Amino acid sequence: MLHPTPHERRGSTPIIRLDAVHAGYSALLVLENVDLTVMAGDFVGILGPSGSGKTTLLRTILGATRLYQGDVTVRGASTTRRIPRAGYVPQLETIDWTFPVTVEEVVLMGRTTKSPLMPWHSGEDRRMARDMLERLGIDHLRKRQISHLSGGQQQRAFLARALVSSPDLLLLDEPTRGVDIKTRDEVMHLLHDLNHQGITILMTTHEINTVAVHLPWLICVNGRIIAEGPPAEVINEDVLLRTYGAVMPVIEYHGMPLVAERPHAASFRRGASATEGAPNDPGTMTERHEHGNHSPRGRSGRAAHGTDGPPHRDA
Ligand SMILES: Nc1ncnc2c1ncn2[C@@H]1O[C@H](COP(=O)(O)OP(=O)(O)OP(=O)(O)O)[C@@H](O)[C@H]1O
Ligand SMILES: [Mg+2]
Repeated sequence: MLHPTPHERRGSTPIIRLDAVHAGYSALLVLENVDLTVMAGDFVGILGPSGSGKTTLLRTILGATRLYQGDVTVRGASTTRRIPRAGYVPQLETIDWTFPVTVEEVVLMGRTTKSPLMPWHSGEDRRMARDMLERLGIDHLRKRQISHLSGGQQQRAFLARALVSSPDLLLLDEPTRGVDIKTRDEVMHLLHDLNHQGITILMTTHEINTVAVHLPWLICVNGRIIAEGPPAEVINEDVLLRTYGAVMPVIEYHGMPLVAERPHAASFRRGASATEGAPNDPGTMTERHEHGNHSPRGRSGRAAHGTDGPPHRDA
């Protein structure tokens, strides 16, 4: 059973709030006019093509991007004033693997030392790191170099680092990328358990079907928020076209939307049933690639950027 949606949680407290946010990097505006509310206890999936701003959105919530306009608050405090406390698991490919560090040391990085004058970890820190490694099933790997682990094991090690400080907010950048189907399932179930314990989770992913099956709330991003809602409302051909600029057939399986592979154009045209199910002729895809420039949430958008603003990200 999926968790209550943010709409059912109207009575609970917002933990994250973005209000008309324009954010990016010093020479690049990535996100425009983003309004977002995440309630305490939510479990949210963020979808979007490469370069659409998923990582930038997580980093904006952490106060780690340039905020051109708007407000970002976490637990009611502006991120421009206070760096929010959150467990963060970065995208694995952004990590410098030449750094010689063991799995246990990576996890201990998640525990802040008591004082700069005593920059070593206590016995309790080490015990908590061991407990977390055990919980994630990789305690036997604790003395290994992190770069010598498989992708799934590395994901777990970084998850352990994020969890060892007992955060109530977890931001995960593609936590299921590059892992086999069993590990992916285990990671998703682990995240569900954590969410049931009250941890608010935001995760980015390219795996639309995984989040459609596991998550109660999705956000589609492409430089702005294209759509958000429960998978049954968000995973449809129109939203996917506007998010990814590609035609993706959506089928229903046991009441859940699933994105199917689009057959090769020739076989697509041959089979009558396949053609009936096709959203449109692949020959028309070039025109359909254009993104719609209206928000499904009906926001007209505040203050469009002037010509002297930062350059926009590549399309
Ligand atoms: N540190 C940075 N400095 C400048 N530009 C950046 C930086 N990080 C990302 N970008 C640019 O910002 C845009 C959005 O990148 P982002 O990493 O948020 O995309 P993404 O949706 O996470 O993509 P992916 O699915 O490939 O991880 C891209 O055009 C990218 O080149
Ligand atoms: Mg990313």
